[in-house]
Amino acid sequence: TQTLRIAPSILSADFARLGEEVRAIEAAGADLVHFDVMDNHFVPNLTIGPLVCEAIRPHVKIGIDVHLMVEPVDALVPMFAKAGANIITFHPEASRHVDRTLALIRDHGCKAGLVFNPATPLDWLDHVMDKLDMVLLMSVNPGFGGQKFIESTLPKLAAARARIDAHMAAGGQPIWLEVDGGVKVDNIARIVAAGADTCVAGSAVFGAPDPDGGYRTVMQALRD
Ligand code: DX5
Ligand code: ZN
Repeated sequence: TQTLRIAPSILSADFARLGEEVRAIEAAGADLVHFDVMDNHFVPNLTIGPLVCEAIRPHVKIGIDVHLMVEPVDALVPMFAKAGANIITFHPEASRHVDRTLALIRDHGCKAGLVFNPATPLDWLDHVMDKLDMVLLMSVNPGFGGQKFIESTLPKLAAARARIDAHMAAGGQPIWLEVDGGVKVDNIARIVAAGADTCVAGSAVFGAPDPDGGYRTVMQALRD
């Protein structure tokens, strides 16, 4: 059976109690902490950096999935690796040398991934399939939590799933397929059916009265 992972995004967490919030979702069974880094340049919002990643690191054992919405990318890679990131993903439009940035992330001991905005074609995968560990499809335009899921992500997920399966069938390394934005109880089953194996959920988890209850509700919808 397929492994399915949920990565709660702390973007919608209570930032005054971040340690407790990440411990709660780990205790509820979350597989990853999704960590949204925004720079008010690549996206019109400003969030958190390596300092906060380092601060939450001792609170959980699960992987920290760093989603860089920043431009340029490279200088932050060693900083996040040092701060305890396990996965680092970036948007190809934001790096002058995509192949080099992927290698830089792996050289720092992290899993590397590319993020595709809703209008960004999967063609960016053409020459780097053997150089990444994660493909992340945005199902909203990045910058804010709580937006509505863009339905055209479903056929795009199926196309990415087909590419990844063909790659792995030909002996390639495993690649996780993650989706980010507007994932809710009422659409997560369709998202997984379309091919995602890792679902980011921000407001669906941390918008609930308590995050472990929010996590369990999302996980239950995935199992139904
Ligand atoms: C948006 C971020 C997402 C966000 C998702 O730019 O990349 O990770 O936190 O939040 P929800 O699940 O509320 O759409
Ligand atoms: Zn994200």
